[in-house]
Amino acid sequence: MGLPVTSGRVRMLKPLLAAGFRGLSAAARRERPRGLVYERHGEPAQVLSLKDIHLAELGDFGVHVKMISAPVNPSDINMIQGTYAILPDLPAIGGNEGVGQVIETGSQVTSLKSGDLVILADSGLGTWRTEAVFGEETLLKIPQEIPLSCAATLSVNPCTAYRMLSDFGILKPGDSVIQNAANSGVGQAVIQIAAARGIKTINVVRDRPNLHQLVERLKSLGADHVITEETLRKPEIKELFKKIPQPKLALNGVGGKSATELLRHLCHKGTMVTYGGMSKQPVPVPVSALIFKNVKLCGFWITQWKRENARNKEQLRDMIGELCDLIRKGLLVAPACQEIPLVDYRAALEASMKPYVSAKQILLM
Ligand SMILES: NC(=O)c1ccc[n+]([C@@H]2O[C@H](COP(=O)([O-])OP(=O)(O)OC[C@H]3O[C@@H](n4cnc5c(N)ncnc54)[C@H](OP(=O)(O)O)[C@@H]3O)[C@@H](O)[C@H]2O)c1
Repeated sequence: MGLPVTSGRVRMLKPLLAAGFRGLSAAARRERPRGLVYERHGEPAQVLSLKDIHLAELGDFGVHVKMISAPVNPSDINMIQGTYAILPDLPAIGGNEGVGQVIETGSQVTSLKSGDLVILADSGLGTWRTEAVFGEETLLKIPQEIPLSCAATLSVNPCTAYRMLSDFGILKPGDSVIQNAANSGVGQAVIQIAAARGIKTINVVRDRPNLHQLVERLKSLGADHVITEETLRKPEIKELFKKIPQPKLALNGVGGKSATELLRHLCHKGTMVTYGGMSKQPVPVPVSALIFKNVKLCGFWITQWKRENARNKEQLRDMIGELCDLIRKGLLVAPACQEIPLVDYRAALEASMKPYVSAKQILLM
C-alpha cells in the first residue's frame, strides 16, 4: 500500500502539542465533527461511512475532546459485525480506544483541563471520530510525553497483558510464560511487560515468508524464544524445555489446535488464560491435561475487569501509571503500526483483517 510503517518509538507527542489547538487555523477549528458511523451490523468496509456528526451538549460534567488517533482492533471489527459480547445502540460510531486532547471542560469537571491528553477508560464509546463530548468519568489523563502511538494503543492490549501477567498466580523472575499469537498487539505487550519483570517468554507465531524478520523484531522487544506453531508440535521441542522452566502460565488468543499445544507444555497445576479466539475454533482440552496435570482453564476480558473496577478507578490509574513508567523507560513500545488518515479508513479496515500483516492500523483524525 506504500503507507509508512512506524515502530511506535518514532512519532512523539511534543511537536503536535507545540502547535496546540490555539495554533489551528480558524477554518480548521470550524470544521464539522466527523465520525465513522454504522447504522446496521455487517462487514465494516460496507456498513461504515464517514459522516458529519452532532456532538452531545457539554453540560456541567462533559469534556470536549479533539481525537488525535485511534487503532483498529479485532474487537472493533467484531462489534461492527454484531458478533461481540457488547454492542452499542445503533447508529453507532466505531472504535473503542484512542487518544485525544481536551479542548474544553464543563463547569463541574475537576480532573481535567484544556490541553490534557486523554484516553478512554471504558469501551463502546466510539473513538473513530474527529471530536467528541465524553463524560469526565470515562476519561483518563495520561502524561504529555508519552508517544502518540503508545497512547492510542494503551488502554486495551497493554492493560490486558498486564492483568494476565499479574492476576493468575504469582510469577517470579526466572519463571516462564508461553503464548500464541505472540506478534499480536497483546502478544507484543506480554513480551515487554514480562521482560521488564524478569519473566521468560516462549512465543508462538504462525509461519510466514518473512519469519526471520518477525523473530528478530519480537526478540528486540525482549522475547526469549520465538517458535512457529509447527515447531511447537515437533518432538525436538522438548530440548527447549530442558533449558527453561516449564511455563506456569499459557496465554491463548487463538483457540483450536494452537491452544491444545500450549496446554501440552504447561507445567503441573499451570493455568491457561484464554483471552481471544482468532482461529474462531473452540478450545479442545485433552482429558489427561485435566486429570494428570490438573491444569486450570480461565478466561479474561479487560472490559469486564474495567467495569468491575470502575467505581474506584484507583487500580486502573495505578496500572496506567505503571505502564506509562515502562513507556518512559523505553521498556514498552507501541506495536508496529501503520498510520492511515481517517478518510482512507477502508484501507485501514481491509489491512486490519488480512493475515500476516503484523502491523496495527492507526487512524489519524
Ligand atoms: N479478552 C480481552 O480482554 C482482550 C483484550 C485485547 C484483545 N483481545 C483479543 O485478542 C486477540 C488479539 O488482539 P490484538 O489486538 O492483539 O490483535 P492484532 O494485533 O490485530 O493481531 C492479530 C493476531 O491474531 C493472529 N491471527 C489472526 N488470524 C489468525 C488465525 N486464523 N489463527 C491464528 N492466529 C491468527 C495474527 O497472526 P498473523 O500475523 O499470523 O496473522 C496476529 O498475531 C483478538 O481476538 C482480540 O479480540 C482480547
